[in-house]
Amino acid sequence: MNDSRPLVVICRTLLPAGVEPLEERGYEVRSGGLDATRERLLELVPGASALIPDPAVPVDAELLDAAGEGLKVSANFAVGYDNVDLEACRERGVIVTNTPDVLTQATAELALALTLAAGRRMSDAERDLREGRWQGWDPAAYRGLELRGSTVGVIGMGRIGGRYAELVAALGAEVLYTSRRPKPDAENAIGATRVELLELLERSDVVSVHAPASEETYRLIGSDELDLIGPDGVLVNTSRGPLVDADAVAAALKDGRLGAAGLDVYEGEPKVPPSLLDAPRAVLLPHIGSATVPSRDGMASTAARNAIAVLEGEEPPNRVA
Ligand code: 8YV
Repeated sequence: MNDSRPLVVICRTLLPAGVEPLEERGYEVRSGGLDATRERLLELVPGASALIPDPAVPVDAELLDAAGEGLKVSANFAVGYDNVDLEACRERGVIVTNTPDVLTQATAELALALTLAAGRRMSDAERDLREGRWQGWDPAAYRGLELRGSTVGVIGMGRIGGRYAELVAALGAEVLYTSRRPKPDAENAIGATRVELLELLERSDVVSVHAPASEETYRLIGSDELDLIGPDGVLVNTSRGPLVDADAVAAALKDGRLGAAGLDVYEGEPKVPPSLLDAPRAVLLPHIGSATVPSRDGMASTAARNAIAVLEGEEPPNRVA
């Protein structure tokens, strides 16, 4: 209680690559654990100088006030920070940081994997094999997309979208993209073309979502947009669940209005909309975009580095607010 060391609260869990540097500094480190409830968190945070939350932890006025006036930084263990109420942090003088770059390759690779897995009907094919429905080679079965010669639409050409665009371009796809700002580097390097969302949806064989969650992007992809992607088109989402209307995806797959979907993220995780679970031609993953060893270690050490910088009175490397 009278411990004068700065208290760092890891809201759920952090890998050793992040915990060790905090402990080396002599900070007191407490963790809520993966199953930390809101009540447990509210008990854990009073007196904290730093919080290290992840996207499953809403950082709002209530949590900030429970932490108290000594709170200096909320260092998100993720690149996305839609779980953080930035305004509430600003009002209380709490700095917010994230973990960009270290997960770019892992997440772009997962988006590519989902593109190929959904485009080639891998989940349905594997399920048929495991459940004894494979009757032998059939030239007409499971025919899907080939990236070479196809058009891939990238919604949100930030770090991850940009890397994904490079990967699909290397396999011979033409890249269209939407972005708030033009990306001349991507245009020069891979011939990507910036278009309006409507044109992207109409022209693309694959549409991959890489924009952050916000009021502006809520349900960016609904029934009308899926109809534009069409019965041969593939939708991939590795960003955040709320950008896509999952029930509309399930209905479009069931009606044959959408070719296939590869999803890694869902609104209200870890719940997955039941409608998706029995939808055909869907590859569904449990939010593993950044789940590689280098990426997750990099995220943990980046979150710790940001927290340490603020606690030492320095400008953190990845400040977002
Ligand atoms: C996971 C992510 O949420 O960084 C993000 O924004 O979505 C993913 O990396 C993260 O691994 C959870 O801590």
